[in-house]
Amino acid sequence: MLEELPVNVPASPMLAHMAGLVARYADPAFSVAHGGHVQAIAAGHYTVSGMSRHVRLGEFVAHRSAHGIHLGEVVRVEPDLIYVCPIEPGEPIGIHDVVIRKGAFRVAPDESWCGRTINSLGDPIDGLGPISPGPIRRPISNTAPPSMTRQRVETGFKTGVRAIDIFSPLCLGQRLGIFAGSGVGKSTLLSMLARADAFDRVVISLVGERGREVREFIEDTLGDNMSKTVVVVATSDESPMLRKMAPLSAVTIAEHFRDQGDNVLLIVDSVTRFAHAIREVATAAGEPPIARGYPASVFTELPKLLERTGPGVEGTGTITAIISILVDGDNHNDPIADSTRGILDGHIVMDRSLAEEGRYPPINPLASISRLARKAWTPDQEKLVARLKALIHRFEETRDLRLIGGYRPGADADLDMAIKQVPIIYDVLKQSPADRSSADAFADLATGLRTGNGNVNQPAINPRQKA
Ligand SMILES: Nc1ncnc2c1ncn2[C@@H]1O[C@H](COP(=O)(O)OP(=O)(O)OP(=O)(O)O)[C@@H](O)[C@H]1O
Ligand SMILES: [Mg+2]
Repeated sequence: MLEELPVNVPASPMLAHMAGLVARYADPAFSVAHGGHVQAIAAGHYTVSGMSRHVRLGEFVAHRSAHGIHLGEVVRVEPDLIYVCPIEPGEPIGIHDVVIRKGAFRVAPDESWCGRTINSLGDPIDGLGPISPGPIRRPISNTAPPSMTRQRVETGFKTGVRAIDIFSPLCLGQRLGIFAGSGVGKSTLLSMLARADAFDRVVISLVGERGREVREFIEDTLGDNMSKTVVVVATSDESPMLRKMAPLSAVTIAEHFRDQGDNVLLIVDSVTRFAHAIREVATAAGEPPIARGYPASVFTELPKLLERTGPGVEGTGTITAIISILVDGDNHNDPIADSTRGILDGHIVMDRSLAEEGRYPPINPLASISRLARKAWTPDQEKLVARLKALIHRFEETRDLRLIGGYRPGADADLDMAIKQVPIIYDVLKQSPADRSSADAFADLATGLRTGNGNVNQPAINPRQKA
């Protein structure tokens, strides 16, 4: 380095110059990165020698080719080789190409990202120009705050969806799963929940969705709420790596807003497709499947993601997470549904049979549970809901009996009441994205029961919402 210095400058500028050089090389961004060479290339991954001692699992590396620099994630480390899953498949990788270490993948969320749609890498995809990075670059594979330092979850809020606000009301910082088969109405319900007024920020991660649905979701249902929303999209045709990263980037953005003191709503549609992406990446790296084709890493990644949501440490905000889970072939016991149910603070079950009857949103009030409902209900509401559930149960269990003509009015007062009131309750619970959010679901229910007319819906005020 000394030879580079001009010889005829006075001592102090020379020292200043040296100090500058030292500072420059001390900055990790300028220091020489560890690198290696590509050894073997397969369909979903490639291997690199010479880096095993310098990289950690989950870190990113950059592959340099004639076409530019491409990122990939380290998915397996062996004594002499590392396995890398490229972010974009199909990039031209050659034997002996140079690969260098990049470290953890980071995003730098910013206030100005609200109203924008980005991809898993934090690049805008809405055609509205570049976005500016925020002051802090956060690793997308972060850890959750320590449990004993986290605030307690005890403030209820209204979602505006009557079937949830009455039977399974939610609290800020709660984690809720929506379980349903394909095409039953998960995405539609999530888009209605994204309009809840209780939140300062909304972060939505659409994973493995059809490209067509993304614009519908954003333009038709979010409406004016888009101004406080960041949408992170990885559509079904994108690489498994990008699909795997979308919810991680989204939760990182949510953490940024939470740490500023905001109450954030995080929506992930769907966690099953996130799990599929992890499965694709892991099997490409040679991880053996343990349950229905899913490798073990799926069952460690899911709790890691969900544990990062919830209340923040004292003095910060909360992340309320609402995620959808596709139950394969309407089997509610598939491994992903099973393992997420245990981590969540509640689950909403949607039945195909209700959707077929036209009872949208097709939420089954008896099978859905919010574990924090008691903190959101008043004591009177709790008693009322217990009574409503009993009536609905009575109505449903006698359905077949009534069909074959086995019902006599007057023989059982409870059943008479159920037959009179349950159809009205069902009508009150009907709501579509075109209807206005309900300001007070219990008041709507009371109106319905008093007038005998359960149709309490009013058209949405927002002209951009579906007519
Ligand atoms: N609340 C609702 N009101 C009226 N119609 C609804 C409602 N919810 C769902 N639907 C109808 O059901 C269809 C499927 O809904 P949606 O796309 O939300 O299902 P999904 O469970 O997300 O499907 P997938 O598993 O394919 O992602 C919608 O196109 C719509 O016609
Ligand atoms: Mg959907």
